[in-house]
Amino acid sequence: MNLPSLLAAMPKAELHIHIEGSLEPELIFQLAQRNGVALPYASVEDLRRAYAFSNLQSFLDIYYAGASVLLHEQDFYDMAWAYLQKAAAENVIRAEIFFDPQTHTARGVAMETVIRGLSRACRDAQKIGVEAELILCFLRHLSEEDAFETLEQALPFREHFIGVGLDSSELGHPPEKFARVFAKCRQQGLHLVAHAGEEGPPAYVWAALDVLHVERIDHGVQSAKDPALMKRLAQDRIPLTVCPLSNLKLCVFPTLAQHNLRELLDAGLCATVNSDDPAYFGGYMNANFLQTFAATGLDAQHAYRLARNSFEGSFADASQKQRAIARLDEVFATHVV
Ligand code: ADE
Ligand code: ZN
Repeated sequence: MNLPSLLAAMPKAELHIHIEGSLEPELIFQLAQRNGVALPYASVEDLRRAYAFSNLQSFLDIYYAGASVLLHEQDFYDMAWAYLQKAAAENVIRAEIFFDPQTHTARGVAMETVIRGLSRACRDAQKIGVEAELILCFLRHLSEEDAFETLEQALPFREHFIGVGLDSSELGHPPEKFARVFAKCRQQGLHLVAHAGEEGPPAYVWAALDVLHVERIDHGVQSAKDPALMKRLAQDRIPLTVCPLSNLKLCVFPTLAQHNLRELLDAGLCATVNSDDPAYFGGYMNANFLQTFAATGLDAQHAYRLARNSFEGSFADASQKQRAIARLDEVFATHVV
């Protein structure tokens, strides 16, 4: 089997996918029509043309506008189900899915509507061979008080999500701003992750680790600027959920060939490959693997390492991890590159 076929065939986990970022323009227009929501774009093509980003904020403005078509439980189900079907087709056997409830509750959509729709899709995903779990993200451009209120609204549905994260505009909104709400989530036994070091400095990664006590860093690519941080991430085997096509489209790296994924792997970090917002950044999991490998010359050993890291860095229980890694080993044993 050649390397592209192996990358597509290997079982893998996706640990960094914003479900609102999987909303394809076609589905945005379908939902807008179904729900009578007016869009500031004339057509699918017109909307797609707007997907030319210069940084994170330029993307977020369009991403939040796209999410405005989501009103009913079935809308959230349909969005998640479309993603999960793609995941299944790409041999993603586990997905830990971010959702941004404040984007919806601020428009008057109930927390229950959001969580029930997403959770039902995750349950149905078992039938197509995907274990799917939800991670609730707080929007960091909003206040900690707003995050506390969001947590209160979500706790009646505690069994439907496994953890919390922190996303949206990074610069100017350091992890420290959310120290108290993360402490409360920790007391609730929730898993903790945070976006850090996407555009922000290594100091934000340190704070995510030492102030928020997160178990994984989302993105984290700016960590390479700080040798002491790289040592810490390697020693503690803190997973980084790296998103190469996202970094390319948001101009974090000028080209994929200049992406630092290889540097992170070579430094012994538990780096993984993920799609972030695949409908906006030009590709789902396998496109991220294929394009990054083609641009940087990574090989089959890197592929094995990345897939293995995705399971080791996941929040699956020990027996699920063991089963997934056994399946990965089987694919690599039978497919010599
Ligand atoms: N929300 C959706 N995608 C994001 C990203 N790449 N960074 C921060 N917040 C996000
Ligand atoms: Zn993200």
